[in-house]
Amino acid sequence: MKGRKIKKKPTIILVCSVILFVVLAIFITKTINELNYRKTIEYKLISIGYSKEETSLLAKKTDEKFMETLLDKEYDKMYLNIIKEKFFIKNKVNEYIKYYEDNLNSQANEIVTKVNAGANKKWYEQVKDTDLSKDILMINNKFYKLPSDYEPEDLVDVKNWYAYGDTPKLRKKAYESFISMFNAAKKENITIIINSAYRSYKKQEELYNQYLSQYGKEYTDAYAARPGHSEHQTGLTVDVTTYGSNGDNFDKTEAFKWLQDNAHLYGFILRYPKGKEDITGYDYESWHYRYVGVDAATTIHDNDITFDEYYAYYIENAS
Ligand code: DAL
Ligand code: ZN
Repeated sequence: MKGRKIKKKPTIILVCSVILFVVLAIFITKTINELNYRKTIEYKLISIGYSKEETSLLAKKTDEKFMETLLDKEYDKMYLNIIKEKFFIKNKVNEYIKYYEDNLNSQANEIVTKVNAGANKKWYEQVKDTDLSKDILMINNKFYKLPSDYEPEDLVDVKNWYAYGDTPKLRKKAYESFISMFNAAKKENITIIINSAYRSYKKQEELYNQYLSQYGKEYTDAYAARPGHSEHQTGLTVDVTTYGSNGDNFDKTEAFKWLQDNAHLYGFILRYPKGKEDITGYDYESWHYRYVGVDAATTIHDNDITFDEYYAYYIENAS
């Protein structure tokens, strides 16, 4: 009996020590974890007002470097609104924030749209070369320029049946799609006539300079592209009209209404829409249609975006 009692004591001590050790280990681990968590960007963002969901969204859509920059600013829901935008582009996040800080009354959609289109910059500043490898999706606007000697290789003559004036030229794919569109419209007694199609650099230069001497720089830049910047040089663009239209009032015609509903089905888009002047850089041109192919045209039409926005999101920054 005596011997048994003596043996029990060390067992109890051992069990107690193990329990104490485990409790201590748990406590130490928890404390270390807590201290480490406090060092995380998530903890820091939460402590300045972001919710757990918001920090997860920030982590998913941006990167640590950007989240660090938020720590120097007060909590602002607008940062979240910006990253929730459908056409948010990760590598433009700092540009969005800069635009927002310079335009505090702007809405998230406007911020993303303007920055994606490059319209947060001055027109014709920081001009890049058009990426010709994008073929029918090449962009040519106030920030992208074609070489002066660029002439598409597959230009074809447009039959006089489809056009006014001198025989215009178009790239083969654009021409074939135009004919399909023309025939579909014709079935509904609508005639779409080409007024202007491919224009060389030199031709655009003459046109621009003629406008310039007649109307001055501001008006000219609103309506005419500078040489190298005109979509007409891509051979993928048509200015159209219809019987009874004087050009300017084209948007009052049945042909315009038909194009609004159907042009995308043939790969064409209204390139300079009304209300989007500060995105495209040009005044409304109800007659100017650009061929981009059916997929792109449908996305542009269905999302009510410009080609400039489409290009930034789907082509230039496609992931
Ligand atoms: N009128 C359009 C903008 C052009 O000159 O290409
Ligand atoms: Zn045009």
